[in-house]
Amino acid sequence: MSDIEVEEIRLQPCEPGTLTPAELRTLFLFEKLTDDQLAWVAAHGCTMHTPAGALVLREGDPAEKFIVLLSGTISLTRRVGQDDVMTTRTEQRGVYMGATQAYIRDEGIEHRYMASMRALDDADFFVLSAADFAWMMREWFPMAIHLLEGLTLGMRNTQAAISERQRLMALGALSAGLMHELNNPAAAASRATGALRQRVAGMRHKLGMLAAGRVDPDRLDALVELQEEVIERAAKAPALTAMQAADREDELGDWMDQRNVTGGWDLAPVFAQGGLDIDCLDDIEAKVGTRELLDQAIHWIGYALETEQLMSDIEDATSRVSSLVSAAKQYSQLDRAAHQWIDVHTGLDSTLVMLGHKIGNGVKVVKDYDRTLPQIPAHPAELNQVWTNIIDNAVQAMSGAGTLTVRTFREDDHVVVSIGDTGPGVPEELRKRVFEPFFTTKAVGEGTGLGLDISYRIVVGGHGGDIVLESRPGDTRFLVKLPLTEPSSR
Ligand SMILES: Nc1ncnc2c1ncn2[C@@H]1O[C@H](COP(=O)(O)OP(=O)(O)OP(=O)(O)O)[C@@H](O)[C@H]1O
Ligand SMILES: [Mg+2]
Repeated sequence: MSDIEVEEIRLQPCEPGTLTPAELRTLFLFEKLTDDQLAWVAAHGCTMHTPAGALVLREGDPAEKFIVLLSGTISLTRRVGQDDVMTTRTEQRGVYMGATQAYIRDEGIEHRYMASMRALDDADFFVLSAADFAWMMREWFPMAIHLLEGLTLGMRNTQAAISERQRLMALGALSAGLMHELNNPAAAASRATGALRQRVAGMRHKLGMLAAGRVDPDRLDALVELQEEVIERAAKAPALTAMQAADREDELGDWMDQRNVTGGWDLAPVFAQGGLDIDCLDDIEAKVGTRELLDQAIHWIGYALETEQLMSDIEDATSRVSSLVSAAKQYSQLDRAAHQWIDVHTGLDSTLVMLGHKIGNGVKVVKDYDRTLPQIPAHPAELNQVWTNIIDNAVQAMSGAGTLTVRTFREDDHVVVSIGDTGPGVPEELRKRVFEPFFTTKAVGEGTGLGLDISYRIVVGGHGGDIVLESRPGDTRFLVKLPLTEPSSR
């Protein structure tokens, strides 16, 4: 899969290959051991050598050796995304590395090196096998092992339980928001349906009255035709400003008043919203002929307009429900495979819809997307979690008012998603710490401090990308950089 050659580990036995108990006692790790214990260590360990520049241990390899530095300088590095980050550089005799947790009984989990170790100049080591090291620790220091195991496993369980809980809480908050969003259009649709039922009943009644009025069949024909025209006109009516609508309503109301149309002032807003004007009413008057029938005809057309408007309200409401459901589906990726080629915008949009309720009306959302961006290899549901965590923080930072800017662009061989807010920003001294697990400035119970830790692990660990924070008061941006190609190992 990878075209990079795997670098060789160079840890060679050296002469004479052993240390005496007296030599071992000079290492701080062993200074308190009894003579018998030292003799055992001397018999089970050996000395080894690594030439300058070579690799001693590789991060991720099974942890088989416990290593103590005797001479030389070494560095420890950890792989972060595409880069090797040096965590330690030391020449201190006696420092130890490698299978340092071999004694922890961790059913089924194989210990692996947590970092790569390189000799910066010629280096010598004292080496014990992980199995021997584990045996001596458990045998000679049973109580210490219990305490260490408790500490390590306890920490791990706490973290797992909390991140599980955080996920559940996030899901709970999201579904509460979604329910709220769904409730509005559903209630609107059901209200409109009730009103529609009334109007349709009214129309049946009106039809009877029109017919009983012995309208001449040609006239009735003309009226039906007029109704069609009016509905068509309503569909195309340009939206009026509030001022224009009020003026129009006044004109229409006056017109109907002059002709004694019953309930004229109630009908005026319906006609105005439907895009009708006085010319149109004149048309109706001409087609109806008699003054007695005009009242009926106007109401008849009013009903037609109202039912049309109610039906489009229902249409809007139900399509809002469908779009929310499809956003929720997108968001949770219920029906998609885990890892695939995706357009980042799809996930960003569905996350924004899902968080619509949380974002609220005080926050303006600006989307500045580069739609020409290529697809990238990713886990869409995991990325949605990243967008959710970052947007969630941004919205909280702005406490209800500000601008949320979501921008996408390309930078060399990465797609970059920038999520910006106009909140107070992250102070310089905290910028490095925000990605740490459990780091939060929020009150106890409000934040777990895992949002960014989880996001970091998803982006850097899971996608071989990077998250960068740029912040000054009024302009804070989280830049999520995702590679265009699949990392060589996952
Ligand atoms: N956009 C931002 N503006 C200002 N501070 C931020 C922003 N994003 C994150 N922070 C800071 O980083 C801290 C850590 O964020 P993180 O999302 O990891 O945890 P949290 O939001 O505190 O809790 P959780 O997300 O688990 O509910 C926050 O407490 C906050 O101080
Ligand atoms: Mg957060």
